[in-house]
Amino acid sequence: MADTKKLYIKTYGCQMNVYDSERMAEAMGGAGYETTDRPDDADMILLNTCHIREKAAEKVYSELGRFKGLKAGKPDLKIGVAGCVAQAEGEEIMRRQPLVDLVVGPQAYHRLPEMEARTQAGQKALDTDFPEEDKFEKLKSRPKAKRGPTAFLTVQEGCDKFCAFCVVPYTRGAEVSRPVDRILTEARDLVERGVREITLLGQNVNAYHGAGPHGDMTLAGLIRELDKVDGLARIRFTTSHPNDMMDDLIEAHGTCEKLMPYLHLPVQSGSNKILKRMNRSHDRDSYLRLVERIRAARPDILLSGDFIVGFPEETEADFQDTMDLIEEVKYGQAFSFKYSPRPGTPAAERAMVEDGEASDRLYRLQALITKQQREIQDSMIGREVNVLFEKPGRLAGQMVGKSEYLHAVHVAECDAEIGEIAQVRIVESGANSLAGQLLRD
Ligand code: 5AD
Ligand code: SF4
Repeated sequence: MADTKKLYIKTYGCQMNVYDSERMAEAMGGAGYETTDRPDDADMILLNTCHIREKAAEKVYSELGRFKGLKAGKPDLKIGVAGCVAQAEGEEIMRRQPLVDLVVGPQAYHRLPEMEARTQAGQKALDTDFPEEDKFEKLKSRPKAKRGPTAFLTVQEGCDKFCAFCVVPYTRGAEVSRPVDRILTEARDLVERGVREITLLGQNVNAYHGAGPHGDMTLAGLIRELDKVDGLARIRFTTSHPNDMMDDLIEAHGTCEKLMPYLHLPVQSGSNKILKRMNRSHDRDSYLRLVERIRAARPDILLSGDFIVGFPEETEADFQDTMDLIEEVKYGQAFSFKYSPRPGTPAAERAMVEDGEASDRLYRLQALITKQQREIQDSMIGREVNVLFEKPGRLAGQMVGKSEYLHAVHVAECDAEIGEIAQVRIVESGANSLAGQLLRD
C-alpha cells in the first residue's frame, strides 16, 4: 500500500495489554499503518480493553458512543475492540454498537491484518477463538526500531487457578507458556534495540513451564538463561501466585544478580475463611511462611501485593485479619480494590457486602498501605541505590529513573544518559518518588 494509514490504540488495564498493544501496532505496521496519538487523525481506532473490574463493558460502550461523530464525518474510519471485553462480549459488541467493524480477542491478534482487510472490503470481522498456534511467533517485529531502556516481554498467558472473583481464566484462557528459545530471541532483539531492563509478563508468570532444550524449564531456569544475555542489566517478573513460588525461584532472588529485589505477590485477603471462599488454595500462614523464606533469600526485597476488600461474606473480623497480615508483611507498594462481581464467575452469585462498608474498608486499607509505603521510602534516605535512567524530568537538567526497588528517583543536575545505570544517594522522599544525587568517582 502506497499511502500510510494511521492507527490509534487506546489501552486499558494491565501491563500485558500494554505489551499486546505494541505487538498489534507492529503487526499493523506490516499492513501499512503507523500509530498516532490522536483519534481524530486515525483511519482505524482500536480499544484494547480490560474486563477485570467494575462495569468494564459499559465503559467500553460509552467510549464507543463517543466515536459516533468521528465516524459520521469519516465513513472509512474503522473501529475495533480488542482485549478481554472483546473476548467476553464477542458478537454482542457489534449488535449493541453497530459502528464497530472489528472485534478481536487476545488470542487472535496475529490475525488482525487479515481482519482489517475484511473491514476494508466492507465486512465485519470477529475473531475470539483460542487457536493452537503461538500468536507471538506470528506477530513478528518490524525492523529494529530503537526502544526505551525498559520493556515488557510476555512469557506466559492465561490462568488455570479460577479464583472465584476473577475473569482471567475465561477471557485469557488456559495457562500457556512460550518456548524458551523464542523468549531469548525476543530478549536479545530488545537488547539490541537499547533495552536494559526486561519485565517478564504472565497472568501467572511463576507457573511458567516453557519448552527448553532439555524439557520444560521453570521461570527460575528462564531467568538464569536471560541472566547470560549480554547487555541486559535487569530482570523483573509479574504477576506471581503464592502457590507457584517454587524453591528455585526463591533461591534465584538470592543468587541471580540481574534479578531485581522486588516481588509482586498478591495475597488478596488475610482471612482464611475468605481465602477459601476465593478459591485461592493458599492460606494466611502459608503466605506468611513464604514471605519469610523469600526474605531469608533476599533480605532487602521490596514486596508488593493486591488486595480485594468487601468480598462476599467478608466480616469486619475478616477484614481485620487482612489488616494484621499487612502489618506483619509490610508492603512497599500495593494495589487494592473493592470487590466487584464479574458476570460468569462463581462469586458473582453471592450476597454482596454493603457498599458503604466496603468503601470504608478500602479507605482504611489504603491508608495503611500508604503509611507503609511512606515508611519504606523514607528509610531509603541516605542509602545508595542503582538507578536506571529512563527520561528527562520536568525540571531543566533533571533525570528520572528507577531504583532496583522500582522506586522512581529524580536526580537534579544530572549528566547521566538515558539507559545508563548509575549510583545515586537518596536525599529526599516525596509522595510517590525519591530524590537523589548522582555519585560519580
Ligand atoms: N473485583 C475486584 N478486584 C478484582 N481483581 C480481580 N478480579 C477482581 C474483582 N472481581 C483484582 C485482584 C487481582 C488484580 C489484578 O485485580 O486483586 O490480583
Ligand atoms: Fe485471576 Fe490471578 Fe486468580 Fe488467575 S491467579 S484466577 S489471574 S486472580
